[in-house]
Amino acid sequence: MELLKKKILECGKALNSEVLLVDSFLNHQVDVELMNEIGKEFARLFKDEGITKVATIESSGIAPAAMAALHLGVPMVILKKAKSMILSDGVIQTEVFSFTKRTSYQLTLKGKFINKGDRVLLVDDFLAQGEAAFGGANIIKRAGGEVAGIGIVISKNFQPGMDRLRRAGYRVESLAQIAAMDENVVEFEGDNE
Ligand code: G4P
Repeated sequence: MELLKKKILECGKALNSEVLLVDSFLNHQVDVELMNEIGKEFARLFKDEGITKVATIESSGIAPAAMAALHLGVPMVILKKAKSMILSDGVIQTEVFSFTKRTSYQLTLKGKFINKGDRVLLVDDFLAQGEAAFGGANIIKRAGGEVAGIGIVISKNFQPGMDRLRRAGYRVESLAQIAAMDENVVEFEGDNE
């Protein structure tokens, strides 16, 4: 998505070969017009998948997921990073380890919001190792839903997440695919073709 790539080049900052700072439009301050365009693009890409719900992981996935849900005309469900380890009725949890933040959290869904027959589009802001996406997919399936697709705003394709998800059979669409990074340098897939 050219608009998003332009924004990353103009307003993002590659801190090193691993971490891209996008807090001025995605992770902290949010460019809602850009999110709207991102939502439209996800809706266009997944329009033939019979999506009934969009799910996302709090917090930075919420803005793009909400816009995708709006343009697909379906509800959005937030998978929470609950602090409590105590299971209550109807709650589905799975542990997710974040390599970037070096902590684990319990990804949590109230099962009643995803049901048998739901075709779910899972949307997230970043794809790195794929742990969050696999955790989200696991919960959606345990709730009875089907993962009809995974929509990612920015994927770091030099990290294993994209390959792992595709090898597991998921349809993954990423709007900005980064092939390589270094301090103040971002190279997208296809840049050298
Ligand atoms: P994974 O989910 O693909 O396995 O990746 P990882 O554990 O490495 O990522 C964990 C968190 O770090 C996620 O945020 C993810 O969005 C974020 N992250 C990963 N790589 C980058 C990056 O290059 N730049 C930025 N800005 N964030 C990155 P989170 O903990 O879910 O935070 P939030 O959604 O509450 O903001």
